[in-house]
Amino acid sequence: MTLPRKKIISANWKMNITASEVAPYLTTFLEEMKQIDGVDVILIPSFTSLPKTSELLTTTQGIRLGAQNISSYDKGAFTGEISASMLRDLFVHHVLIGHSERRHLFGETNAVIHEKMKMTLRNEMKPILCVGETLEERRTGKEKQVIEQQLREGLQDLSLDQIDNTMIAYEPVWAIGTGQTATVEQAQEAHFFIRSIITELSNISTSQKMRLHYGGSVTPHNAEELLSAPDIDGALVGSASLDPHSFAKIVLKAQST
Ligand code: 13P
Repeated sequence: MTLPRKKIISANWKMNITASEVAPYLTTFLEEMKQIDGVDVILIPSFTSLPKTSELLTTTQGIRLGAQNISSYDKGAFTGEISASMLRDLFVHHVLIGHSERRHLFGETNAVIHEKMKMTLRNEMKPILCVGETLEERRTGKEKQVIEQQLREGLQDLSLDQIDNTMIAYEPVWAIGTGQTATVEQAQEAHFFIRSIITELSNISTSQKMRLHYGGSVTPHNAEELLSAPDIDGALVGSASLDPHSFAKIVLKAQST
């Protein structure tokens, strides 16, 4: 059973694009978006650029706001953390959780990631859970084991309704920021596997509805091929999203697949 799933393209700006750079970016990007229809777009700025992006997007249809991280704590004495209610206050709809940079550079474990998933869902935002193996894990044939564990621990004890409100991004660590994209076959195989685990954790209808992003060196040149694979429903774009023209080109490619 295959259901049509609307394509979704997300821009993870990471630690780039300051608040004062948001307006010029959006002027260009929104102009190019006028020709685009039938694709969902998520912009995921840094925390300090969220207010400006939120302000400029409020009247724009079809583009949603995401955050790059969330605190696993509710509120109080947690210096440097950003809470769910702070994000909701800025009309954030989506939260990236467990990005490989958070896992590998900032030591986030599957247990912390699971807390962040619950916090996001409790506050009526939608998590994008990032999973993916390192180069070493792929070389030693452990990629499926790693992905399965990240999914099972990240999604454990979530209700069906909560899983329905979740998206997954498959981002092989070796493909992020390296220019070394996964081949379409590698990416499709991983996405198919992810969907089969989602079926086990929920049911076939939920897993068929769930949109899965691929992330890792997506560019306007390789987006179309990747997005044509049956289980790849979107792209989570880092470097190529920093230029509004190149990000718009990727969205345009999604429209034609
Ligand atoms: P790049 O597109 O720069 O490889 O980054 C991918 C990524 O990590 C998106 O979250």
